[in-house]
Amino acid sequence: GKSGYDHYMRKEINEQPSALRECFRGRLDELSGRVTLEEFEGFELNPPVTFVACGTSYHAALFGAQLFREWGVPAHAYLASEFEAETMPIDTDSVVVGVTQSGETADTLRALREANAAGATTVAVTNVVGSSAARETDRVLYIRAGPEISVAATKTFASQQAALTMLAAALSNHRSRDLVRELRSVPDRIQSVLDEDAAREVASTYADASAYFFIGRGYHYPVALEGALKMKEITYKHAEGFAAGELKHGPLALVTEQTPVFAIVTGDGRRAEKTIGNVKEVEARGTPVVAITDGRSEVGRYADHVLEVPSAGEITSSMVANVQLQRVAYWTAHELGRSIDKPRNLAKSVTVE
Ligand code: F6R
Repeated sequence: GKSGYDHYMRKEINEQPSALRECFRGRLDELSGRVTLEEFEGFELNPPVTFVACGTSYHAALFGAQLFREWGVPAHAYLASEFEAETMPIDTDSVVVGVTQSGETADTLRALREANAAGATTVAVTNVVGSSAARETDRVLYIRAGPEISVAATKTFASQQAALTMLAAALSNHRSRDLVRELRSVPDRIQSVLDEDAAREVASTYADASAYFFIGRGYHYPVALEGALKMKEITYKHAEGFAAGELKHGPLALVTEQTPVFAIVTGDGRRAEKTIGNVKEVEARGTPVVAITDGRSEVGRYADHVLEVPSAGEITSSMVANVQLQRVAYWTAHELGRSIDKPRNLAKSVTVE
């Protein structure tokens, strides 16, 4: 049941700390900084790594591909519906990773089947034991999020981010005590976000907005896309996520006083500085700005509202920032009286191409 919550979505958002602890269990070694994935013993990594996925899982795949690249392994994410093995150099040397919560998404299964037929080594990153994706691939990494009932994916996205971070670290032999320590602290950092009300206030302030925009760069770019997808699914309002640097290449024309812009900015590095530049352009046009930030940069100065994330590296901060956006979407839909767990026109598992 819903354990006293109004909606499964709220329950599942709040389950993220425990879901992540389960995802990490037995896989992280703080002393050596090593990630150990039993499932991948003896696995030979042959770059590039090709990801296929849909929807929220595609956003996780974008995040995963970026991690592989960061740690020296060429990788690229494709929308499963746009992936055609015959138009790419997919052969017996290739590694194709399908990211699919349900393990039953038709587009993703079709892409994995084509990769299998081309002789590639296939991997499923999934939540469902015994799912089609799990049965039809060479290796399976379970994200261990527990059942997700709400149509909008929440805890499974966090667990995909976590699992893909571990997969990238393990397969690229990236060893880092800092990373392992940071991963372990994600559940507590998410809990601190769950314990405060700022996202609910922002949601009620902007429930009448005509559209919502989300910007981020680097690891925060997939989170911007995911923030917008959650918003459109459960509020039925127009929402778009952009790479922060793309704003000036067109989308800026959409920005008005009725279209809040959510900017994810953590740390004080080069990426943060550049995104702040993009935020200034928005702010100068009188557009409300909501900064999702750890306060290490001056972005708060240009923001009408701040949603806080505890200070940490960009990779794990993006997991925490995403929870703030999940909560804004949830409370906006709540304010608008939407059917949160079962949005119109959508199904939990999409079994047709
Ligand atoms: C969004 C959502 C969908 C799924 C997509 C893929 O909240 O749930 O976008 O992410 O249909 O589903 P899986 O991960 O089961 O392949």
